[in-house]
Amino acid sequence: MSFSEKYGPWALIAGASDGVGLAFGRALAKEGMKLILVSRSQAKLDAAAEELRRLGAECITVSADLSKPEGSTQAIAAAGSREVGLVVTNCGADSINSQFLDADIADWEGLAAMNVTTKLRLAHHFGRAMRECGKGGLILINSGACYSGMFGLATYCGSKGFVLNFAEGLWAELRHNGIDVLTMVLGQTDTPSYRATLAKSGQPIPEGWADPEDIAATALRQLPHGPIYNWGQTNDVAGFASGSPDDRRAKIVYIEQMTGDLTKRV
Ligand SMILES: NC(=O)c1ccc[n+]([C@@H]2O[C@H](COP(=O)([O-])OP(=O)(O)OC[C@H]3O[C@@H](n4cnc5c(N)ncnc54)[C@H](OP(=O)(O)O)[C@@H]3O)[C@@H](O)[C@H]2O)c1
Repeated sequence: MSFSEKYGPWALIAGASDGVGLAFGRALAKEGMKLILVSRSQAKLDAAAEELRRLGAECITVSADLSKPEGSTQAIAAAGSREVGLVVTNCGADSINSQFLDADIADWEGLAAMNVTTKLRLAHHFGRAMRECGKGGLILINSGACYSGMFGLATYCGSKGFVLNFAEGLWAELRHNGIDVLTMVLGQTDTPSYRATLAKSGQPIPEGWADPEDIAATALRQLPHGPIYNWGQTNDVAGFASGSPDDRRAKIVYIEQMTGDLTKRV
C-alpha cells in the first residue's frame, strides 16, 4: 500500500497552523493526503491552507480551541463523514510559563484538557472509524518532559506523561486492528510558540534545536515502528526514563540547573 492508501485519504492535524503541525501538513501534502487543519487563529489557518493547497492538497480549516471540551467536538463535527486515516495531535505546549501556584487553576485545566481530554476524544472518535477500515495511524506529539517532573512545568510534565502511557496502551491494542500508533518525543524545537516562551523569559536561542520539517519527516517514517520515538536519542538509551527514585530526584534538580527558569519573565 502507498502512504495515502494506508493512512488516507484525509489526515487531521490538531495544532496545524505553524511549527511542527504545519511541517506535517507540508509532508502529508507531498504524500497526496487531504488535510483537516485545526487550530485557533483563522488568519493563521488561512495562510497555512493557502500554502498547502499550492502543494496540491485539498484542505479544510477548523478554528477551534482544543484546550476546551467543545474544541474537539467542533473538530469532529467539521470532519463529518470524511474518511480520516491519520490523526496528528500536535498542539500541547505550555504557554503559561509559570510555577504551579502562581497561575490560575483554569489555565492549568486548559493545558491538561488539551493534552488529555482532547487527545482521548480524537483518538476515540477517529480510532473507531479506523478500526472499521482495518487501517490508519495516530501520531501523538510529545516532549521529553513526559519522562519526569520539572521545575516550572508540573502540569505540562504530568499531562505529557499521560500522553506517553496512553500512546503505549493504544499501540498495544490498535496494532491488532491494523492501526499504527506513535508518540514522537521532542526535545527543543524551532517553533513560533517555543521562540515566544524563550523571548518571554529572556533565554537565548538554543544551539542545535530540531527543525520541524525533520521532525515531521522522521515521524512519518517511524509511524509503523511505534510506540515511541525519542528525537535525537538512540532507541536503547539507558536511564532516559529511570525508575530509581534517587536517579529521578537527581535528574529533576539537574534539569532545573541546566535549563534555567522559563517561568521568569523579563
Ligand atoms: N517547541 C519545542 O521546543 C517543543 C519541545 C518539546 C515538545 N514540544 C511539543 O511539540 C508540540 C508543538 O509545540 P509548539 O512549540 O509548536 O507549540 P504549540 O502551541 O503546542 O503548537 C502550535 C500550534 O498549535 C496551535 N495551538 C496552540 N494552542 C492551541 C489550542 N488551545 N487550540 C488549538 N490549537 C492550538 C497553534 O495555532 P493557534 O495559536 O492559532 O491556535 C499552532 O498551530 C507540543 O505538543 C509541544 O509540547 C515542543
